[in-house]
Amino acid sequence: MTGVPPQPTLTDGELTLRPWRDEDIDLAHGLSDDEMARWFDFAGTPGRADLAGAVKRWREAYADDRSVVNFVIELAGVPGPVGNVEIRRTSPGVGSVSWTTYKPYRGQRVARRAVRLLVVYAFGELGMERLQAEVDPENRASARVAIRSGFRREGLLRGGAVLQGERRDVAVYGLRRDDPRADTLSGWTALMDSVLPKKRVIAHVVVRDTGGRVLLCKVSYKKDLELPGGVVEPDEDPATGALREMQEELGFELPLVGVLAIDWLPRWEGWGDAIEILYDGGVHDPDLLESLQPDGFEILGVDWYAADELSGLVSALNVRRLPLVLGAPGILHNLRDGNPITAPREGLPD
Ligand SMILES: CC(C)(COP(=O)(O)OP(=O)(O)OC[C@H]1O[C@@H](n2cnc3c(N)ncnc32)[C@H](O)[C@@H]1OP(=O)(O)O)[C@@H](O)C(=O)NCCC(=O)NCCS
Repeated sequence: MTGVPPQPTLTDGELTLRPWRDEDIDLAHGLSDDEMARWFDFAGTPGRADLAGAVKRWREAYADDRSVVNFVIELAGVPGPVGNVEIRRTSPGVGSVSWTTYKPYRGQRVARRAVRLLVVYAFGELGMERLQAEVDPENRASARVAIRSGFRREGLLRGGAVLQGERRDVAVYGLRRDDPRADTLSGWTALMDSVLPKKRVIAHVVVRDTGGRVLLCKVSYKKDLELPGGVVEPDEDPATGALREMQEELGFELPLVGVLAIDWLPRWEGWGDAIEILYDGGVHDPDLLESLQPDGFEILGVDWYAADELSGLVSALNVRRLPLVLGAPGILHNLRDGNPITAPREGLPD
């Protein structure tokens, strides 16, 4: 391609990104180590000829259409390269970014500062609109570099790469040109939101009749009877979620008069762990049943059940906790997997 400008030199005053020089190869190849081989899936620690071949390909790709731009990282006061960073165009407007700091220079924020300069160059001179980095979840230093450079964690490609003969997951980090900068409040919180845990919330409603029985639904997707309610949607408050589910399932709404229990459910089968809220749907005349209209799809029928007849009809979880709740509806039950939290969990220090 004609009209490709010379590869620039970029600096923040102390750290500089510049094109490779032939003499860099002699210094840099001796700084390769096992970590680089491991995370970049090199066959072994790269030798001089490997690096020389790579530098040749990078120069050609730059001269051709800037599909790959690889910079040497220099640090003020240090002779020769301390690492390198690269941006590789993977589709129009999208670039894959990677980084390496040679072993003697790690832990001095070299990679983070280098990536910051590279990002400005990629969104500016290269006109990129999205940058992406793929990091092995166990490469913690690299994951930190991604986050510290403003890349949000976007997801996990399960078994997305083979490293040293082993199929492994790949964490994907992304940065859009129009993302708020990480040094603004909304930029920082969005960045943290991408890495902090997100838990599922389930909201069920315990509706009782004047005889102390509980309203349970016969559902189409499992044999256990279930409380009305379900999973709370993103950006929905749990009480609204509970009422929405009741409306969808039974065509009926009733006021929630409080919370009877908060339960934490551990990971189970294919489900992740969850927080469950059991709302108090109040005490009603048994003929409430006549006002309910099971959707006939998810909910096949509803009826009242006494605490002492639940065994075998509901899940083991509900066998544990529903009698507690029905037996003492005046208190808030703090539960862990359906059991009252009265003592530290086994294995935890006193
Ligand atoms: C990943 C790598 C580039 C980091 O280089 P670096 O110049 O030391 O990085 P920085 O100093 O900018 O940042 C490293 C961050 O990782 C953290 N870190 C370092 N080792 C860590 C570890 N074992 N566990 C958790 N965090 C670690 C540091 O504390 C720092 O985080 P902080 O800024 O929040 O304190 C370097 O280790 C390397 O070249 N590794 C081999 C090649 C590689 O893995 N490249 C990336 C492939 S995706």
